[in-house]
Amino acid sequence: MTTPIVEVVNDLERKRAAAFLADHIPGNLAAVFSVSLERSNGGPASFVLRTDDDAGIAAVVHIGPPFEDASWFLRADREDLAELLITDTRMVNSIAVRPELRRHGVASALLAEGERRVMGEGVQLIYGVANGGVEIDAFYRRHGYEVGPAATPMLIRLGDDRVMMPLDGQQNRWFFKVVNQDPSAKRPYAMVRTPTARQIELHERESKLD
Ligand SMILES: CC(C)(COP(=O)(O)OP(=O)(O)OC[C@H]1O[C@@H](n2cnc3c(N)ncnc32)[C@H](O)[C@@H]1OP(=O)(O)O)[C@@H](O)C(=O)NCCC(=O)NCCS
Repeated sequence: MTTPIVEVVNDLERKRAAAFLADHIPGNLAAVFSVSLERSNGGPASFVLRTDDDAGIAAVVHIGPPFEDASWFLRADREDLAELLITDTRMVNSIAVRPELRRHGVASALLAEGERRVMGEGVQLIYGVANGGVEIDAFYRRHGYEVGPAATPMLIRLGDDRVMMPLDGQQNRWFFKVVNQDPSAKRPYAMVRTPTARQIELHERESKLD
């Protein structure tokens, strides 16, 4: 039996949540920053949610604007694209459940609560990187996400802008879900595609010219 989901709002608790994620996700690199740093980067949009049981932390999810991805575009002098990613998208940075509590809907409840908060912010796309076993793909697909092929970039269109998102690591897969879609719009505001080999090649060539 787990406790109601709460937001982790102080730094000591954040450190504990970060340690929990590091212990339960092999190779987890997504940093959980101090509350003040996250607030100065992205306002209240970044949050950590937790649920407990008698033995301590049962599960944690960390969702926020994609600061790291946005920083690539800042480095390439594309402040407009960095800003677009921060306002229109959110990343599920990490989610983990203690092994003995898995397959009882604990992560589903955390993700649903995280998505509920994000939807209220007018976000258009939720995405992340799956970097563990096949259960992660099954979990995200169950929640309406698409999971891309391993080691393949993702092509995002937001309004009139297109953003190619590279992917490091041979086993990593992008997962993504378009949300808050206006059903009456002629053309959806947000779309995600797995780029063709030709699109990847063109993008790489253009990036080199910059
Ligand atoms: C992925 C993870 C968070 C899922 O947590 P969970 O609480 O067990 O997930 P839920 O019980 O809410 O599962 C919901 C659905 O996801 C799918 N799913 C979850 N785990 C699965 C598994 N091992 N195999 C197949 N499908 C799975 C199923 O469709 C499941 O529904 P069902 O049980 O009715 O069949 C958990 O396995 C975990 O902590 N893994 C290690 C950490 C990790 O790698 N996290 C992701 C990287 S950020």
